[in-house]
Amino acid sequence: MKVLVTGGAGYIGSHTILQLLEAGHHVTAVDNLSNSQMESLLRVQKLAGRSLAFHEADITDPAALDRVFAAAGAEAVIHFAGLKAVGESVSQPLRYYRNNVTGTLNLLEAMDAHDVRTLVFSSSATVYGSNPQMPLKEDSRLGATNPYGRTKQQIEEILTDVQASDGRWRLALLRYFNPVGAHPSGQIGEDPQGPPNNLFPYVTQVAVGRRDMLNVFGGDYPTSDGTGIRDYIHVMDLAAGHLAALDYLAAREGVHTWNLGSGSGHSVLEIIRAFEKAAQTAIPYSLAERRPGDAPVSLADPTAAFRDLGWKAAETLENMCADAWRWQQNNPNGYRVEAAAS
Ligand code: NAD
Ligand code: WQD
Repeated sequence: MKVLVTGGAGYIGSHTILQLLEAGHHVTAVDNLSNSQMESLLRVQKLAGRSLAFHEADITDPAALDRVFAAAGAEAVIHFAGLKAVGESVSQPLRYYRNNVTGTLNLLEAMDAHDVRTLVFSSSATVYGSNPQMPLKEDSRLGATNPYGRTKQQIEEILTDVQASDGRWRLALLRYFNPVGAHPSGQIGEDPQGPPNNLFPYVTQVAVGRRDMLNVFGGDYPTSDGTGIRDYIHVMDLAAGHLAALDYLAAREGVHTWNLGSGSGHSVLEIIRAFEKAAQTAIPYSLAERRPGDAPVSLADPTAAFRDLGWKAAETLENMCADAWRWQQNNPNGYRVEAAAS
């Protein structure tokens, strides 16, 4: 299949493109490189032994998207492009709505104009907001609690409306839980710009000496050890979920929503211990205040994805830690070759 991937140079996009190439698909990647480096896709091509087409373009630019679609001859789209930092979305809501929502509207218009109506969308468990019902099922109540989350929820609604207006659309809404880890080669991985917002990249940067210590946000949650519990999913499992969704859409129209998570939870202290074991190094940490907006627990019910797609998360926490560490150790400054520190 000819697949157009927006945000393809990013963390999840690069791992998914590698699996698409390995499965024989033809890939066109679009990225404005606002949160990624071209180097990720150079490495993906080396790992796959195959090439892809790349367009440096912004999805908020309709004319650029039109050119990309004209060149790509795409049959399906996987849409990763988006801004994803929760805190930044609170201080810059207009930037988030323009980039994520307007960008998606442009993408849908370009798809329609080029007769491409199959789309896999990167949604997020963040759409469930502070819903305390655990585990979360696809029909659990939604209620994003920050502008980033609301862009995801609004895009889900837009996609649902578009499908209702024209039954030819084939849409998959994939709600990721907490993606972590890296390709086992250690060649591609997560490369946040500036101080990481998320737990895993922060831990790996402490381990490699880029940060002094980790702040554990909250030690007084109603959980087994007082720290927050999350459903971590290896990025290779997550990438495989996208290929499974594409296969499913090849035979079915409609809007299909799936949680992509493991169904098991780990506390922050469990992650620290598992990482220390995998990396054979101590992670200095200190208990800090709760981070505003954090839920005590977030856990997927992933049974629908297994039932419909035959997909389930297979990787262990041990592998998530070992692979994240291999990537960080091989690339202490991420994809930047010069000794960048930030
Ligand atoms: P990422 O930042 O590594 O990748 C996103 C890519 O999109 C980047 O390469 C960025 O340069 C590109 N991009 C952003 N705006 C663009 C625009 N206007 N035009 C073209 N390219 C643009 O993030 P990721 O972790 O790979 O996330 C991919 C998607 O999955 C995002 O939509 C994110 O919201 C969603 N998601 C991520 C997580 C997570 O924890 N990583 C969890 C749930 C959902
Ligand atoms: C995990 C746990 C923190 C950093 C976020 C987004 C969500 C989705 C995935 C995109 C929590 C604790 C973290 C640190 C810590 N992204 N923590 N010290 O918050 O579950 O989800 O990423 O859609 O929308 O909100 O992930 O990795 O930030 O936090 O103690 O320095 O680690 O409090 O319990 P989160 P996270």
